[in-house]
Amino acid sequence: MYEHLLLQEEGGIALLSINNPKSLNALNSATLQELNDCLKSLQVRKDIRVVIVTGAGPKAFVAGADISEMVNATPAEGRAMALLADEAFSRLEKMPQVTIAAVNGYALGGGCELAMACDIRIAAESAVFGQPECGLGILPGFGGTQRLARLVGKGRAKELIFTCDRIDAQEAYRIGLANKVVAKDALLDECRAMAGRILSKGSYAISLAKASIESGMDTDLASGLGLEATNFGLSFATHDKKEGMTAFLEKRPADLTDF
Ligand code: CAA
Repeated sequence: MYEHLLLQEEGGIALLSINNPKSLNALNSATLQELNDCLKSLQVRKDIRVVIVTGAGPKAFVAGADISEMVNATPAEGRAMALLADEAFSRLEKMPQVTIAAVNGYALGGGCELAMACDIRIAAESAVFGQPECGLGILPGFGGTQRLARLVGKGRAKELIFTCDRIDAQEAYRIGLANKVVAKDALLDECRAMAGRILSKGSYAISLAKASIESGMDTDLASGLGLEATNFGLSFATHDKKEGMTAFLEKRPADLTDF
């Protein structure tokens, strides 16, 4: 169905792999377009509650935007590519499902930026992160200057972007870029296990929590707290709230649905 993506679905989880292994899953415009289209169709699916994003092949998550496409691109074409990536990555960041990046190798440039647009990053021991753009005479253009600074702080983001240093999975974990580091062979199992724990919780409550965090981070504390209070109130309208609290009081496991 897709030329540059693989999509597998099982038990409420979609496994979405960027599939250009010959170029270490470099993101060209066609891949970005397919990613955006695929996310558009997933984000309205009630039966899919967690999306795991990874890279096909043994070596790379995504080695960046496609340099062979960009080398002769004009300023207008460069901007158009960034806007297309922004649309796809922002969709990933804001979709109601939980998104987990399974970082199975190189996550450089646009690859690091794709991982950062996911809610959670689980890294294989072999993962390598970095923003090498300034070494190519450009700057991170798929959200790196914005999301890296928000994730690891301004000072560390500037250091990584200005030096183009590559960091390993342990260092990514130490600075808060990766949530967890696991053995390469265990990567997808770990992601599925985390997805399983998420699937057992109230999915509507999770989507409200995600929206509160995402919108709240873009505003001042008072506005964020106001939004949280509204969403907290909204969650009181659900069967899940009644069931979750009743189950607690009756000392039995809760049977949560999706509302
Ligand atoms: N774009 C296009 N092709 C790429 C690519 C990329 N980002 N990364 C790797 N490839 C291609 C290579 O050209 C090579 O193709 P050929 O076999 O046809 O020669 C193939 O993938 C395998 O790569 P290498 O032979 O280089 O593999 P390696 O193991 O020696 O090195 C690597 C791996 C360190 C990841 C190296 O490939 C590399 O440095 N890649 C580029 C990383 C990079 O600079 N990314 C940032 C791109 S700019 C960007 O992302 C802008 C933005 O903000 C969105």
